[in-house]
Amino acid sequence: MPKDALIQKSLEINLFYQRIMKEHLFLIETHLPCVETGYILEADILKKSFEELLSETTILSNGMISEDAINSNEFVTKYTLSAEEITSKLTGASINTKITEAELTLKPDKDYDYTGWFEDTICNLNQRSRNLLKDVIEFKKKLLSLVLTCKLELMLYPDMLEHLIEEAEIYMEVLEALINKEIPKKTTCGELNFWNHIMAEHAEFIDGMLDPTEGELKDAAKVFTDRFEKLVKECVDDASSKIIKKSLEATTEIRDYKKTATEGLLECKIKSIIPPILADHVLREANHYIRILKNRK
Ligand SMILES: [Fe+2]
Ligand SMILES: [Fe+2]
Repeated sequence: MPKDALIQKSLEINLFYQRIMKEHLFLIETHLPCVETGYILEADILKKSFEELLSETTILSNGMISEDAINSNEFVTKYTLSAEEITSKLTGASINTKITEAELTLKPDKDYDYTGWFEDTICNLNQRSRNLLKDVIEFKKKLLSLVLTCKLELMLYPDMLEHLIEEAEIYMEVLEALINKEIPKKTTCGELNFWNHIMAEHAEFIDGMLDPTEGELKDAAKVFTDRFEKLVKECVDDASSKIIKKSLEATTEIRDYKKTATEGLLECKIKSIIPPILADHVLREANHYIRILKNRK
């Protein structure tokens, strides 16, 4: 992989996933019963460690990442900051909003010149992210096994915890490739099935976390689940351009649905147990997948 592509890809991947990881830890931290002080503290420390990395990545990324990446709204959206402020205030758990403010002012690359020093810094960043990610995966797996043996109460579905592990593991796959200076490569079906499955689960979680009276939104979520599950079944060997197109259509629609939901939650117009930052989080994951699909077209 050429040096400049490796640097840019590393920055974009870390910008996206470091935030995803610290938000997963925030969710875990705020959905544990107060009696679990040890695990709450562990989640908080891991969250803050990812925040430190993300803050570093943000500084390094200014003027270095593609315009395409910035415009995809996969790093931050116009809702992120308010979602963070509200969710942090209501849960009492910390969120470093300074990072978000800095991310909102990120500028794309302009005649960048990557020096050897910069390449070493990025390699080091990838390695430190991998080390921390390893701890995060272990932590999530430990919690999942405790939940499944009824030794721990976590107010998140076990299936959601598994989903958080899957996202951490795909980040690990990409990081490993970047550390080996390779282009992270998945087959088209491999990549589409991963993300279509993630989108199906988002719809299931939204359905399960909306108030029972939110009939219309719940019905729409169910339709999305079926649609994405069907797409997973359809992609078996190598994907045709038709399935990429269908996935892009479905993801654009669920993105709009998530956008409306985030707005509704921020304005307190939707009854649910969905924290606003979670709505914005799944919106960014859809934006990230849309960029992947557009590059595959
Ligand atoms: Fe996530
Ligand atoms: Fe997700």
